[in-house]
Amino acid sequence: MSVNQFPRLSSDRTKLPVTIGRIADFAHDPVVCMRRLWAKHGHLAALEEDSQRIYFIFGPEYNKQVLSDSQRFHSRFFALRGSKRSAQRRVSSGLLSMNGDEHKRHRRIAMGPFAKKAIVGYHDMVAQTSKEMLDTWQPGEVRDIDQDMTEYMLRLTCSILFGLDEPELALEIGKKTERWVALNHEIGPAAFIPNADLTERYEELLESAEELEKPIKEMLRLRRAGSSGRDVLSLLIQAHDEEGGISDDQLIGHIALLFGAAHLTSAHSLTWTLFLLSQHPQVMRELHEELSKQTSGNSPRPEQLDELTVLDRVLKESMRVLPASAYVQRVTAEPVDLGPFHLSPGSVVVFSQFMTHHLPELYDEPESFRPDRWRTINPSPYAYLPFGAGPRMCIGAALGMMQLKITLPTILGRYKLSLEEGAEVNARVMSTMLFPTSRVPMQIAPQDGDFTSSSVTGNIHTLVNLPPATSQARRAA
Ligand code: HEM
Repeated sequence: MSVNQFPRLSSDRTKLPVTIGRIADFAHDPVVCMRRLWAKHGHLAALEEDSQRIYFIFGPEYNKQVLSDSQRFHSRFFALRGSKRSAQRRVSSGLLSMNGDEHKRHRRIAMGPFAKKAIVGYHDMVAQTSKEMLDTWQPGEVRDIDQDMTEYMLRLTCSILFGLDEPELALEIGKKTERWVALNHEIGPAAFIPNADLTERYEELLESAEELEKPIKEMLRLRRAGSSGRDVLSLLIQAHDEEGGISDDQLIGHIALLFGAAHLTSAHSLTWTLFLLSQHPQVMRELHEELSKQTSGNSPRPEQLDELTVLDRVLKESMRVLPASAYVQRVTAEPVDLGPFHLSPGSVVVFSQFMTHHLPELYDEPESFRPDRWRTINPSPYAYLPFGAGPRMCIGAALGMMQLKITLPTILGRYKLSLEEGAEVNARVMSTMLFPTSRVPMQIAPQDGDFTSSSVTGNIHTLVNLPPATSQARRAA
């Protein structure tokens, strides 16, 4: 994240929706900071410290202006890019750091394998990999479901995106990606706030980028040594080998981004959905009935995916209330007006799926998990945007949804997952993503269709309204 100076202001500063505060507060807890700004100013706000500002947009009208205009509003996902020849520069050079014609060209190359038609080919791989994960689970044990979902998504991502069955290499890249993502988040503010501690830790970030680059290079070597396939890495390598194609450094950036973007967001979406279902036994019951009737507890076939309407509503609502991608930023490439503000080039604008999805004027009782609301609502792409919107919308959206729609029924067809009684579940937005920061311990039992919810503590209660546990009521009765 970086912020700019603001040379030109509207004539009457006092009327502008500006809060004077600490920009570090946003990095420290984005949700708390954004909620305060929204409560004070509504759909558009700025946070100002000394001569620096970050602009925040929460309403669909501003999302539309900013997200549909990729010429004026550029993507700059990583605040610290490192020097030209550094590993940090290479691993951060994927699509999210590209703009203009370069972005269009690379996006076109990378998108082919993610078109709706192409992803049907990955169906069996998802069903098979989820069954293999379940074969390692034992009824009676308690599992950290977020760790399971993360490892599962790493393995799946490795096979689908890179055509490789290398679980250990995938795990190594996954662990190193997570550390690198966390360091970017922690040290990123040093790009605009002088802070000796953070500057010292910059070396740590550079080392972590070098560590991440090693297994990525190994993956590239393995893929080049094997026969080329229809996976995205093969296509990127082919483009690299053609004239005017993709440079080696960009190839490394694409792999790092695809890996991080694909596995963490999908894993967290699965974890949050399983968690929300465990807290809403009535919804779980309805989903169980649909799955029993239509798939008899098996993985759904490709042609069944569109018919599972309860599953569709559950996923939409889970990604509304706890979106795996909680905010993203843009940087202005030229002067532009945004509401009452005149933004100069280099201004940082943050849009937030979490905030837009929780606006009471868009969603009745926004903090409640109510999949049934999707029977009657049909929000615009700028009012509901778990995958972003406009020309930079997630290229993996269809693949991501397909993975969720096969994995969840496969898990729930075999096992009943109940949150461990009294578990503490905490969450935090880091590097734009909504992560569980605690274990999410689930008791595994054979699926019997008899659902209760258990009590939960932790800061998850600040993000979503959870109904009282039904397990205690049943014990008392
Ligand atoms: C549930 C799963 C996922 C969620 C919630 C998600 C979310 C997002 C969001 C919000 C953006 C837009 C960022 C922006 O506006 O700057 C994005 C972009 C992107 N996502 Fe995903 N994503 C998911 C799965 C995937 C998968 C499976 C892939 C694998 C291909 C992927 C690859 C990408 C890439 C490459 C971009 C950058 C697109 C660009 O800048 O043109 N994502 N994702």
